[in-house]
Amino acid sequence: MNKTVLIIGASRGLGLGLAKQFSSEGWQVIATVRTPQQADALSQIPRVSVETLDMNDAASVDALARRLEGTQLDVLFVNAGVAGPQGKPANLATETEVGHLFYTNAVAPLRLAERLLPLVNTKQGVVVFMSSILGSVETGPGMGMSLYGASKAALNHMTRTFVAELGETGVTVLSMHPGWVKTDMGGEQAPLEVETSARGMVEQVTKALGTGGHRYLDYQGDLLPW
Ligand SMILES: NC(=O)c1ccc[n+]([C@@H]2O[C@H](COP(=O)([O-])OP(=O)(O)OC[C@H]3O[C@@H](n4cnc5c(N)ncnc54)[C@H](OP(=O)(O)O)[C@@H]3O)[C@@H](O)[C@H]2O)c1
Repeated sequence: MNKTVLIIGASRGLGLGLAKQFSSEGWQVIATVRTPQQADALSQIPRVSVETLDMNDAASVDALARRLEGTQLDVLFVNAGVAGPQGKPANLATETEVGHLFYTNAVAPLRLAERLLPLVNTKQGVVVFMSSILGSVETGPGMGMSLYGASKAALNHMTRTFVAELGETGVTVLSMHPGWVKTDMGGEQAPLEVETSARGMVEQVTKALGTGGHRYLDYQGDLLPW
């Protein structure tokens, strides 16, 4: 039987790359965009159905959960994220900018995962949160983008709470670093192509099915220090 993945935030960049890679490996893909007008690239991909979702809007998440009732997800991949106020250190960013960054990168992914968890296969499903090496408390500081890194550290922290509250389950949780990748967020100087990162991440997620536990790892499967 074909496996099913739900990818949150797939209009461009890594989310779009993940949709292409899962599809090319025979998965059924449900992929979300904020604006249906941005779904052209996605709707060209075989086995992809497109849903509209703003991850930060609880009513939008609730509506998606209701539309997907009865669907069993092998993988829930929470990819959506923002860079925040680029180049601004913490003492220059506004309260609104910081609030939006931390809400989008740390709080909204966990709220969404809690709402959609009943759809995830309890025997062997995988929930993936798109983190970053910049979120590592041990190695992130000094690598730049300090506010963004702190938002991903907060995501990792909240993910560990999510895992602690899962109890006895066959669900595996991954905190994923995709590498530094050429996207709107990663920029032109990034060394990795979307295809390389997406291929690696799909391999790691597929390997994780049914293994259980929680790991912080990169697209090549290397474990990262928290
Ligand atoms: N690129 C890298 O080098 C790198 C490295 C480490 C981690 N990451 C992480 O990887 C993920 C994807 O990054 P990317 O490089 O592909 O970035 P990107 O090109 O900027 O794409 C970001 C995606 O997230 C979506 N998104 C943002 N806010 C959303 C919301 N509130 N609700 C739903 N979707 C939302 C965007 O949708 P719209 O098109 O509607 O804006 C877009 O599809 C992010 O979590 C990022 O932090 C990236």
